Amino acid sequence: MDKTINQDIIYIGCDDKDITQFEGQYVLEDGMCYNSYVILDEKIAIMDTVDKAKKQEWLQNLDKALNGKKPDYIVVQHVEPDHSSVLGEFVSKYPETKIVTSAAAQKMLPLYFPDLKAEFVTVKEGDKFSLGNNTLQFFAAPMVHWPEVIVTYAIEKKVLFSADGFGKFGVYDSEPDDWSCEARRYYFNICGKYGAQVQNLLKKAATLDIQIICPLHGPILRGEMLSNAIRLYDIWSKYEVETQGVFIAYCTMHSNTGKAAEYLKDVLVKGGKKVAIANLCEEDWAEALEDAFRHDTLVLASPTYDGGLFPKMVDFIHHLKIKNFQKRKVAFIENGSWAPQAARIMKESFKDFKDIEIVETQATIKGAFKEADKQTIETLAKEIL
Ligand code: FEO
Repeated sequence: MDKTINQDIIYIGCDDKDITQFEGQYVLEDGMCYNSYVILDEKIAIMDTVDKAKKQEWLQNLDKALNGKKPDYIVVQHVEPDHSSVLGEFVSKYPETKIVTSAAAQKMLPLYFPDLKAEFVTVKEGDKFSLGNNTLQFFAAPMVHWPEVIVTYAIEKKVLFSADGFGKFGVYDSEPDDWSCEARRYYFNICGKYGAQVQNLLKKAATLDIQIICPLHGPILRGEMLSNAIRLYDIWSKYEVETQGVFIAYCTMHSNTGKAAEYLKDVLVKGGKKVAIANLCEEDWAEALEDAFRHDTLVLASPTYDGGLFPKMVDFIHHLKIKNFQKRKVAFIENGSWAPQAARIMKESFKDFKDIEIVETQATIKGAFKEADKQTIETLAKEIL
């Protein structure tokens, strides 16, 4: 995909094809990219650095873009190390470059760079900053995804540098025809908790004429891709349903709970419902989390374990909780050979979730999924339908 922005703004980001997990927890099938940009004007500004894994490549990209010139400013929009970790080397190489950032970031940077010595320019909401032909305007975007985050609007070129916002997993060119798949997994896992703050940022963005979005991860967005991304961010950050349908997430020890879940899927599909299903014992929980937010109804199916809930299901519900899962219908299937407890515990776990409608009918399987168990699944399906 094209990384050309315009004659003044040059892409200097890097792909990391070797990384297999982001933040030590999110599986990456196709690496990750860290975007960074140089704005060449009478004064030269750099927009963020990259992860330390790509230090050398980024410094080379920077040298090439600068072509012997010296940068005047480096804008630190976000202090998280995937974007700031080369700042120390950068400042050593260009000690006269001023760091433009929020007051909150200025306080946070010493946590990562205790010996950093540089001149700071502190910017706050709405401040404008001229580079010559390009004026940068800064907007606070607290908790999208850390408290210090700012986004930057290049007024004349109508470009929004959106920090983590509108990012995605994957190297720059991964899944070029389907931005939403890995952008959705990225959004709900990285920013999902902060819907209200993302809404605040979208409201600010709506006042600007944005032709291009330059995020810190994922492709540069323009045209239809840009409007689709804004449309989806609005849905996601309001915790609205993107796809009418049911998502079934199950855990299974000896395939029996899995069979019950698959049977529910078949009955629902026959009833005309769109259904997605995932085995949490084998599949990526972060992808399952994304699917839970995507659909209107979530069904959780779990064995009872040690008199409690199966640990992988405990973990999944914990992730739903910390990501602010809400505004959905939730139903349960439990299995337990002698004392089924899973449905009761799952139900209790949702007590302090916001706006959750619990489906009263719950299905209980004891041991193997038998012919006689089909009726209880069909009853549950009927209520969901
Ligand atoms: Fe891409 Fe919050 O760092």
